[in-house]
Amino acid sequence: MASRVGALVTVVVLVWAVSSLNMAEAGNGLSADFYAKSCPQYEKIIYDYVTKLYNSPKNNTVISMIRWAFHDFVNGADGSFLLRSDNFPNNQSEKDSVAQVGMRNSKYAGDIKLAVDAYCPGVISCADTLAVAGAASVKVMGGPYIPMKVGRRDTRISLKSSADKIPRSTATVDELLAFFKPLGIDTAGAVAMMGGHSVGRAHCVSFKARLYPKLDPKLDLKFAKKLLNRCPLKIPLNSGFNPIHFTYIRNDPFSPLTLDNHYFQELLKRHGVMKVDDNMIWDPRTLPYVKLYANDANVWKKTFMLAYQKLSEYKVLTGTQGEIRRKCSLLNK
Ligand code: HEM
Ligand SMILES: *[C@@H]1O[C@H](CO)[C@@H](O)[C@H](O)[C@H]1NC(C)=O
Ligand SMILES: *[C@@H]1O[C@H](CO)[C@@H](O)[C@H](O)[C@H]1NC(C)=O
Repeated sequence: MASRVGALVTVVVLVWAVSSLNMAEAGNGLSADFYAKSCPQYEKIIYDYVTKLYNSPKNNTVISMIRWAFHDFVNGADGSFLLRSDNFPNNQSEKDSVAQVGMRNSKYAGDIKLAVDAYCPGVISCADTLAVAGAASVKVMGGPYIPMKVGRRDTRISLKSSADKIPRSTATVDELLAFFKPLGIDTAGAVAMMGGHSVGRAHCVSFKARLYPKLDPKLDLKFAKKLLNRCPLKIPLNSGFNPIHFTYIRNDPFSPLTLDNHYFQELLKRHGVMKVDDNMIWDPRTLPYVKLYANDANVWKKTFMLAYQKLSEYKVLTGTQGEIRRKCSLLNK
């Protein structure tokens, strides 16, 4: 009798275990309390580190962080973006993609991981570190607080072809929406995410097609003069350091280190720097959202937050997939 009860209990427990396993698989395997036991303070450590960077001469690192996170998410939020090309002697990696234009400082992601590892060694993946650091950068720069699910694991793959899918600076609205749609981001979310260009800079190479050979008539003329001033064509192309490529302009000169809805207000004044930005005010699908976010910072923040969460959960590795990388730029040996 006792052994039959024991067997029954075993069966019930097994069924329960299997069904909860299925539940975990049905979701994406991430949860808010994934590190509740193994590293309860991980979020505070990351936020403190990002805040410290923001208040240092390396404050521009915090700007770049949101772009690193975005580039990592769109091919699966799996840390692939941080892998150096020399991990793949026979393959080209994300770092070899033209999507890397202007990318900077990403080695600092490794420093954030070291700060976390000092408290709970080897527990948090680079993918989680990057996703949460991106959220921290959003908050520290004045954007919304983004509650994050965690438990991502790190990939051993990074493909140039994946990063090549990220749109160019000249992308049309069709291309922009077609890029975001398979990621689960609708038009409202796509326009909100572009608010990331409220911070940071664009180099001449990313907008010179709007200046030469002919001035883009959609540019506000005063603003166009500013761009022309920064990127004069008459610079010898073989001068080694070629300002056509290396001079840059701030996306939002008024608050370059603040993530706010200024970006949308500037777009409406025809002050969008890159074609991809400006295109959104000339298309009936996107213009209503540009206006909405320009007028209502809270709606923009909420939509940005939801889109960021969704992107950060795209094609994650969980459970026993992938690895917990020891150094974010290097595959584990
Ligand atoms: C999908 C359409 C997008 C396109 C075509 C695009 C294109 C670009 C390009 C070409 C640059 C480099 C400019 C340069 O240095 O010359 C850039 C910079 C940047 N992008 Fe995007 N981007 C897109 C979406 C996003 C999103 C969704 C975010 C974040 C939410 C983002 C955040 C940034 C930031 C912060 C920078 C400046 C980085 C720095 O100054 O270090 N971008 N973008
Ligand atoms: C960011 O750092 C630069 C360079 O040290 C400094 O000039 C600037 O004032 C800083 N900005 C903010 C908002 O801290
Ligand atoms: C190398 O590239 C091929 C083809 O794109 C891909 O299938 C393979 O997974 C890559 N290998 C690594 C280690 O990234």
